[in-house]
Amino acid sequence: PDRYVVIGNPIAHSKSPDIHARFAAQTGEHLQYERLLVPLDGFADALGNLMKSGCRGANVTVPFKLEAFELSSQRSERAEAAGAVNTLRFDGTDIHGDNTDGVGLVNDILCNTPVRIKGARVLLLGAGGAARGVILPLLAQEPAALCIANRTVAKAEELAERFQQWNAGKSRLEACGFEQVAPDFDIIINATSASLSAELPPVPAAVFREGVFAYDMMYGKEPTVFMRHAASHGATARDGLGMLIEQAAEAFFVWRGVRPDTGPVHNALRAAL
Ligand code: ATR
Repeated sequence: PDRYVVIGNPIAHSKSPDIHARFAAQTGEHLQYERLLVPLDGFADALGNLMKSGCRGANVTVPFKLEAFELSSQRSERAEAAGAVNTLRFDGTDIHGDNTDGVGLVNDILCNTPVRIKGARVLLLGAGGAARGVILPLLAQEPAALCIANRTVAKAEELAERFQQWNAGKSRLEACGFEQVAPDFDIIINATSASLSAELPPVPAAVFREGVFAYDMMYGKEPTVFMRHAASHGATARDGLGMLIEQAAEAFFVWRGVRPDTGPVHNALRAAL
């Protein structure tokens, strides 16, 4: 079978082998997909060894996405825009770097919910790697507005500035601090790492009014703090399990040219949380 790995540190928790095994079984693709724990200073060596051993590709997770970007000999536009790579395809001595995180988010919303991004006013909370990774695919849907809000406002401003060059649909692209967010958004996406410490980005509670779709990139067995907060103010909330599965489906497509059916995989993983 063709061999693939997911590389990270830590990596034991990764659900990617389970997801890709299910995709492979479903599509009849003959492949093997394993976890690879790599020391913090050992990423480049690990890539070299994988390529020598005939490995066909890799997913890359924390903390190696920037290094994967730098070591890629070619990059997709969405990887270029994200400034990070989560999917590598090995082709002879070439390393193709891609980023499927943003498309994963967008596809989860478009394919698995009734929410429309085109024409919507979108609020993106956070301006770190997770936020940057989703901006290009969001802009490609031509939202009416995309406002990036962050604790450190300067980082949000930098991102808004940087992404003007990709704003072909001419969305209103803005930046602000959490406290200044006005209650006029249709979609609110939490890309901060605040959830990790059970904290909330301090946006006014009024933004989570009825009719708002609130998406947390985090997920867990129970609804996240962000989801519970949003729902308690009338919003509809969704966690990031769908994004995880859709980014994997996009990587599977990059490698195999086949699109798996994500619905049954989502149900199975949800049940196993
Ligand atoms: P990631 O790759 O998860 O995006 P990151 O690049 O370190 O990680 O970015 C973390 C993001 O979460 C940043 O937007 C950070 O805000 P700052 O840029 O001001 O640091 C945000 N963040 C982290 N903890 C937060 C908290 N407790 N409240 C609000 N925002 C938080």
